[in-house]
Amino acid sequence: MFRTQICDILNIEYPIILGGMVWVGRADLVAAVSDAGGLGVLGAGGMTVEDIEKDSEIIKAKTSKPFGLNVPLARPDADELINAAIDCGASVISTSAGSPKKYTALIKDRGAKAMHVVSAAKFAKKCEEAGLDIIVAEGFEAGGHNGFDEITTMALTPQVASSVSTPVVSAGGIADGRGFVAALALGAQGVQIGTRFMASAEAAAHQNVKDAVVNMEDSGTAITGRTTGGPARCLKNKLTDMIVAEEAKGTPPDKLMEMIGGGRSITACLDGDCDEGSIYCGQIGGSITSIKTAGEIIADIVSEAKQVMESLNSL
Ligand SMILES: Cc1cc2nc3c(=O)[nH]c(=O)nc-3n(C[C@H](O)[C@H](O)[C@H](O)COP(=O)(O)O)c2cc1C
Repeated sequence: MFRTQICDILNIEYPIILGGMVWVGRADLVAAVSDAGGLGVLGAGGMTVEDIEKDSEIIKAKTSKPFGLNVPLARPDADELINAAIDCGASVISTSAGSPKKYTALIKDRGAKAMHVVSAAKFAKKCEEAGLDIIVAEGFEAGGHNGFDEITTMALTPQVASSVSTPVVSAGGIADGRGFVAALALGAQGVQIGTRFMASAEAAAHQNVKDAVVNMEDSGTAITGRTTGGPARCLKNKLTDMIVAEEAKGTPPDKLMEMIGGGRSITACLDGDCDEGSIYCGQIGGSITSIKTAGEIIADIVSEAKQVMESLNSL
């Protein structure tokens, strides 16, 4: 059940993809998601070629199933990271935050599948022209960077699915079997999940971050960076309060960037400072009440989705 075209393209059991997560989505989580039948994807945003080589060895020691790598295209060395990942056995490359055109041929010529994350149907059409294998439609409720047009998953997924014939995966606000079935109903052939997997046993995030996700409410996120060129959904804390207040005051972007300083996501994700650090997190975090293994999360999603289908059939 739930076998879609995405399963055939990616050679996986369930059309459930671990969204690339900078600092958080490292080898243990990737291996666990792939081993449970989904697609584990390394979040290479903060990784070097050496990190990719080391993590790939760990993944391959833990599972023989396919895995992928996500590269935000803001990285000037994106092609080096992509080549390193494919050399190390990654069979799927997911790109985000930029134009995938330049990289699609490189990925496909090397025999890997190419996915790209979009925030509006106009970008999905460009992906189709560029020959991407899978398009990820990511709505505004998602954790991390999202689109300037602020389109929600509920509105975005069907519009992207209707505008291209390339298979579409829905992302943003999906954490359980209800969201999974809803995404399929909206025209997606699979889901990409970040926040739910951040609160998993295998995620590389600090325990304080996982606990903060478990304790948050549906209103617990804020958008920062609307004025600095990169809107991002983060867990509300002292840092986001400061940024949102400064943006509302009209503080110039360069001054604001100076006030924020570098390394805030490391401060949170790896050092556990949930007040002063930047923690990417989606609105669906309010529904997460416990830290589970990635295998349990996938099993829960599939079993709840079956129940949802049964109850829909009985209507
Ligand atoms: C902590 C965190 C880090 C993320 N880092 C990246 C990243 O490096 N590259 C990327 O394309 N998306 C990134 N995302 C977005 C995810 O890949 C995924 O698409 C998104 O989390 C899905 O929405 P959800 O959070 O509601 O599940 C990140 C999300 C989170 C929560």
